Amino acid sequence: MLFAYGSGSPDPAPAAAYIASRLDRLQILLAHRPNVSYPTFAAKTFATLDRISDGRLTVHFITGGSDHEQRREGDTLTKDERYSRTREYIDIVKRIWTSHEPFDHEGEHYRFHDFVSDVFPVQQPKPDVSFGGSSAAAYAAGGAEADIYALWGEPLEKTAEQIEAVKAAARAAGRTTPPRIQVAFRPIIAPTEELAWEKAHRTVDAIKARKEKGEPAVVRHHRRGDPENTGSQRLISIAQSGERYDRALWTPTAAATGGAGNSNALVGTPETVAQALLDYYDLGVDIISARGYDLLGDAIDFGRHVIPLVREEVAKRDAEGAARGPGTLVEAV
Ligand SMILES: Cc1cc2nc3c(=O)[nH]c(=O)nc-3n(C[C@H](O)[C@H](O)[C@H](O)COP(=O)(O)O)c2cc1C
Repeated sequence: MLFAYGSGSPDPAPAAAYIASRLDRLQILLAHRPNVSYPTFAAKTFATLDRISDGRLTVHFITGGSDHEQRREGDTLTKDERYSRTREYIDIVKRIWTSHEPFDHEGEHYRFHDFVSDVFPVQQPKPDVSFGGSSAAAYAAGGAEADIYALWGEPLEKTAEQIEAVKAAARAAGRTTPPRIQVAFRPIIAPTEELAWEKAHRTVDAIKARKEKGEPAVVRHHRRGDPENTGSQRLISIAQSGERYDRALWTPTAAATGGAGNSNALVGTPETVAQALLDYYDLGVDIISARGYDLLGDAIDFGRHVIPLVREEVAKRDAEGAARGPGTLVEAV
C-alpha cells in the first residue's frame, strides 16, 4: 500500500506506523520528499518504521515534478537540481541504514560530521528503495539507486520503452542487476464488459463534475494548464493520440485529470483486467499497483475477483519455467 506524499496531505509516516501496528502482512510503500527533511533524520524515521512493521517497509523517494508544488514547502531548486539532491539523499540514507561506524559527509547538498544511528532496519542489509519519474534525469538517478522503479500505467509499447530506458540507465551506472519494475493502474471492473464500460463513463463524468465544481482537493491535485513533469506529459500525449490501447487500457480518466499521476484505467470484467495485467507481467513488470476510483469498493472487488486470477496465472507461468522470479501484486489505495 502506497502512503502518498503531497504538500497539504496527512503525514504518511505516522499513518504508515499506525497501519503497520494494526496489520500483520500489509507491505508499506512510504512516499518521501527529500526537501522536507534532513537525510540523517529521515533515515532514522525509516529504520524505526521498518522495526515497527517488522521488516515491511519500502521507501519511495519522490523528487517532485512541479516547481509550484515544491515551493509550497520552501523548495526552490530546479528539477534537475532536485534529482541531484535526491540521489545524494538516497546515498546517505543507504549508508546510515548500513553503517555501524560514525562517518562524515561532504556533498553538494548535505554536510555533516560524526553521524551514526542507533536504530537499524529489520531488513538486511536494508529496505528496498523505490523511485519514480519519467524524465532523463529521473532514469539516471533511479537507474543508479533504485531497487524498484515505479511507472504510471501506459500502453504496452510505451511501457516497454520506459523499461528499456531504466535498464539502460542502470547499465550506465555500472549495475549488473537492474531495478525491478512496478506499474500502476486504475482498474474499473464489473461483472460484464457492458457494465464495466458504463462504470468507466460514469467515472469520467464524476471526475469532470468535481473539477467543474472546483473542489479544492481536485483543483490542487488535478493540474490545470500544462504539467511540468514528463510522466504527466506522456500520459496527456498518449490520451491525445487515442482513447483505447491494447486489451483494456482506457485514457479518458488520465485526460480528465490532466495526467494526474496514476490515472489510466483498465476497463472490463475481472478476467479481461487480469489478462491485461498479465500482458504487463509478460513484458517484464514485476509489481502491479492498482487503485480504484471508488477507493474502498474497488479495492474489495479487485482483491476478490482480479488478484486470485492474476496470482493463478503467474504461478502457472512460473511453473512453466519462465526465467524470471515470481511476480508480486501490490494494491495501492
Ligand atoms: C508510483 C508512483 C508514485 C508516486 N507518488 C508520488 C507522491 O506520493 N507524491 C508526489 O509528489 N509524487 C509522486 N510521484 C511522482 C514522482 O515521484 C516524481 O516526483 C515526478 O513524476 C517527477 O517528474 P518527471 O516524470 O518529470 O521525472 C509518484 C510517481 C510514481 C511513478
